[in-house]
Amino acid sequence: MTYHTEKARVVALLSGTGSNLMSLVQAARTYEIVAVLSDRAEAPGLLRAAEAGISAAAHRRSDFKTLSDQKQSIYRAIREFIPDFVALAGYMQIVEPEFAAEYFGRLVNIHPSLLPEFPGLKTHERALAAGVTEHGCTVHLVDSGVDTGPIISQATVPVREDDTAENLAARVLEVEHALYPWTLNALASGEISTTAGIVAASDSITADARKRSFRVHGC
Ligand code: GRF
Repeated sequence: MTYHTEKARVVALLSGTGSNLMSLVQAARTYEIVAVLSDRAEAPGLLRAAEAGISAAAHRRSDFKTLSDQKQSIYRAIREFIPDFVALAGYMQIVEPEFAAEYFGRLVNIHPSLLPEFPGLKTHERALAAGVTEHGCTVHLVDSGVDTGPIISQATVPVREDDTAENLAARVLEVEHALYPWTLNALASGEISTTAGIVAASDSITADARKRSFRVHGC
């Protein structure tokens, strides 16, 4: 296992509120968020990033002829920051397969379900409808599918009988804010590696995960 001493450069992509982005910013230890990019100029997360002194820019759909032009413009901007990792934080645009392949192993996402259960949207509603007793969130590598890439880590919450989608979502979001920065710190330091999509973790980070009730895939 190789450990890294320099801070990793992370570009974050978002389309919405940016609460996960702020948790990534606040708990950054072994990485630095060097830029935030969005496909939506009105994403509140962009303003939050700018207020935190981070380079923040929107590449809005209406400025481009095609969706593909918009996506390519975002990908060019990402490359200019020479990131070690790209972190999706509530990014609603599907990543093109070529870009997912270019950054495979360095492109991560947080998803509000215990994957492989409930990929896609409306995860909390679907979890309640399915009657699960445990729900949560997953940090995973992004591949060319929707929420299909190798699972890195997960955090769980119990589902209560009187749960609504809203309060379940709030409880999951709380553990997202702990799991995502924890995982990115461990990836950036090399304590979790994902060579060829196979997740491995050092003994100390595995013990730390246990203490926090996080699951690290394969450990
Ligand atoms: C989170 O639930 C995340 O899991 C999902 O999109 C939501 C983003 O929320 N991918 P926020 O913008 O970070 O508040």
